[in-house]
Amino acid sequence: MYVNPDIKKTVRVFPEEGRRAYLRYDMNENSEGLPLDFVEAVKREITPEFLATYPEPSAFTQKYADYMGMKPEQVLATNGSDMAIRYLFETFGEKGKDVVTVAPSFEMYWVNCNILGYHHVPVPYEPDMTMKVENILAAIGEDTRIVVLLNPNNPMGNVYTREEAEAVVQRARDVGALVIIDEAYHYFYEKSFLDLVKKYDNVAVLRTFSKLFSIAACRLGVVIGSEAIIRYTKNAKLTFDVNSIALLFGERLLEHPEIEKTLIAQEQEGKDYILSELKARGYEVRDCKGNYIFIKTRRDPHALAEELAQEKHVLVKTYGKGMLRDIMRVSVGSRAAMERFLEAFLPLDIAEEK
Ligand SMILES: Cc1ncc(COP(=O)(O)O)c(C=O)c1O
Repeated sequence: MYVNPDIKKTVRVFPEEGRRAYLRYDMNENSEGLPLDFVEAVKREITPEFLATYPEPSAFTQKYADYMGMKPEQVLATNGSDMAIRYLFETFGEKGKDVVTVAPSFEMYWVNCNILGYHHVPVPYEPDMTMKVENILAAIGEDTRIVVLLNPNNPMGNVYTREEAEAVVQRARDVGALVIIDEAYHYFYEKSFLDLVKKYDNVAVLRTFSKLFSIAACRLGVVIGSEAIIRYTKNAKLTFDVNSIALLFGERLLEHPEIEKTLIAQEQEGKDYILSELKARGYEVRDCKGNYIFIKTRRDPHALAEELAQEKHVLVKTYGKGMLRDIMRVSVGSRAAMERFLEAFLPLDIAEEK
C-alpha cells in the first residue's frame, strides 16, 4: 500500500492522556477554567435541535471581527489554531521550499513542515536566550514561502519590537512569503501586532481560545488577515471544521468582555505572586511574556517533574534536549493555583530559605 513518504517519516509524540486527574501546569491552559455559572448558562443553549444542525460560523465571525475592529471577510474560525497553521501552510507553502521559524518554538510548526514535505529553516537562540532578528532576516531567502513569528514565543517567552516585526514582514514581502504571527499568548503581553494586517498584505495573525479564554476542549482558533489571505485559506478548509459548541462558547465569551479582563488580572496576579515567591527563595526564574514561566530548579528538573506527577499529581513541562534541558516550564494561573503549585513544588525541590 502506498504511504505518503513525508507522513511516513514524520515522528509524532502526542500529549499524555488522563491529565484531568492532575493539577495541570504543563500545557498553558487555564488550570481552573471559566466561571461555572457562565459555563452552565451556555450549556443550557445546547438543545437536541442545536446538536442536530450543522455548524454556522458567520455569527461568531461577525462578532469576532467587530471585537477586533476588522471586517468579517478578514476573519476565519478554525478547529483550534492548530488547524489554522495547517491551512495556512497548505495554502501559502510549497513542497521542498523553506519555512523559517525560530528554534525552539511551538512544535506543530516543524511537524507540519515534515508532514507537508517543506524545508524547515530553524533560527537558533543565542546562549543567553535572546533572539537576534538579523539572524531571522538572514534566513529569509528566495526559497522562503512562510516565516513564523510567535508573539510572545512559546516556550522562550521573548517578544519583538515593532521595528523588528516590520523588518521581518518587509523582508518576507520582498521574496513573496507569508508571515504568520501567532499570538496565542498576547493576552499576557498586550503589545499585539494585529495592526500589521492592515498595513501589509502578507501577514496572518493567529489567535486561540485555548489559553486565556479557557476552552481548549472546544477547539477554537482564528486567522485574521487580508481579505485575499482569508479567501484563499477558506478554499483549503474543510466545510464544517469548527463545531457549533466551540462557536457558541466563543460568541458568548465575546459578549462578556469582563470575563477576559478578569482572567487577565487573575493570571497576572498569580504570575507576579509566584515570581516573587520564587525569587525570595533565591530561585533563578524567567518571566516569559506568555502565561508561563521558567524555573531553574535546584534538582534535576526531569526527576522532579516525575515526582511532582507521581507524588503530588502536578504536571509541569520539561525539555529532553537543547538549551531548555535544565529548566522547568510552569503555566501560570490565579494566585490560588500558584499557591497549590508551590505547596507541591517547594518541599520536593531543595528549597532552602535564604
Ligand atoms: C504558540 C501556539 N500556537 C498555537 C497553539 C495551538 O493552540 P490550539 O490549537 O489549542 O488553538 C499552541 C498551543 O500550545 C501554542 O503554544
